[in-house]
Amino acid sequence: MKYLLVLLCSVVLGGLALAQGQGGVLQRGQAVFEDSCAQCHRTNGEGLPDTFPALNKNPFVLGDPKPVIATVLNGLKGSLGQMPGWKDKLDDDQIAAVVTFIRQAWSNRAPAVTPAMVAATRGK
Ligand code: HEC
Repeated sequence: MKYLLVLLCSVVLGGLALAQGQGGVLQRGQAVFEDSCAQCHRTNGEGLPDTFPALNKNPFVLGDPKPVIATVLNGLKGSLGQMPGWKDKLDDDQIAAVVTFIRQAWSNRAPAVTPAMVAATRGK
């Protein structure tokens, strides 16, 4: 009985720690987004028509995570203009957090991105 209680407690505490850890990633990602991205893509993720692309409901943002990570690392020069690169300003953890945030904020629901995935893309 005692052991069962200990087991139960560790499952509950472990679950809490996990939930907090995940909340932490989204909170860190939101902070990075507000500091570094929202002036263009706006806090609501809708961007500005013909100027800054919306990130909300954007199939590119929700798709394969590698090109999304590469865009944030290296920036992007396209028909709309120049998106700055962040590889010298944000570390792997910050980029993983902000990419996870833009994939899970607003109406977006796509799997999280890990710092290891950012490190692998950065190395290329
Ligand atoms: C100075 C304005 C500016 C800032 C700051 C900025 N972006 Fe961008 N972003 C752009 C522009 C402009 C484009 C589109 C470039 C093009 O295709 O012509 C873009 C494109 C993107 C795309 C690709 C969207 C698509 O559909 O191709 C993603 C993803 C993105 N930005 C994420 C971010 C994130 C995350 C940050 C913060 C770390 C950020 N951006 C900061 C201007 C900005």
